[in-house]
Amino acid sequence: MKIKSLLISLLAILTFSSCGAKQSENNNDNDMNKNNNNSKTIVVFFSHAGDNYGVGNIKEGNTKIVAEIISKKLDADLLEIVCVKDYDMSYDALCNLAKKEQQAGELPGFTLLLNNSKVEGKINLNAYNNIYIGGPVWWGTYPQVMFSFFKEYDLNVKTLHPFTTHEGSGLGNCVKDLEKTYPKATFSKAFSIYGHEVRTEEGKIKIEDWIR
Ligand SMILES: Cc1cc2nc3c(=O)[nH]c(=O)nc-3n(C[C@H](O)[C@H](O)[C@H](O)COP(=O)(O)O)c2cc1C
Repeated sequence: MKIKSLLISLLAILTFSSCGAKQSENNNDNDMNKNNNNSKTIVVFFSHAGDNYGVGNIKEGNTKIVAEIISKKLDADLLEIVCVKDYDMSYDALCNLAKKEQQAGELPGFTLLLNNSKVEGKINLNAYNNIYIGGPVWWGTYPQVMFSFFKEYDLNVKTLHPFTTHEGSGLGNCVKDLEKTYPKATFSKAFSIYGHEVRTEEGKIKIEDWIR
């Protein structure tokens, strides 16, 4: 009888403590959700569809695919920087043009698409504390039009999560240039992926690993 009641007590303790563990896991989930609600997340990106290195003529740019995966995974808003200049040309021609833009320090105009809808005027980014910033590497850093965006939007008090797609340069100078632009921002570990890899299953896994 004594042994039976001892066993029942032990079972009760075990059941209670495992419930406790579950409950504290759930509390953590709630805390995370609370944080997410208090500080929204947005993915800001530029991406070029059309003739590109290693992937041919693509309908959707490599970086856009990464940006969409992040946005979906984190339930984050998606802000696309659209250059007012026409970049619909061969890869070689665009390389020449981009080189000239960079050498001249040109800051091309841009419009913004928030979740695929045109933003009229300036977008208010106050609600967003976590900002994912991504673009292709063009001549070692982000395309000039992204610097046009950086000039207009002060992201110094934000937490920035930089990423790039590239064909050999990795992050290039993108993070360094972002750090120079926003010396007071907090930076998380940046991520880069080959452009031709983003449509593959391995690529998707790498992107999701980084998000995690
Ligand atoms: C104008 C231009 C310049 C590029 N310069 C580089 C470079 O310096 N280093 C690199 O690794 N890849 C370079 N690339 C390749 C792109 O970074 C790569 O294809 C990227 O995934 C394109 O992304 P997107 O489709 O989102 O524009 C360049 C591509 C273009 C069009």
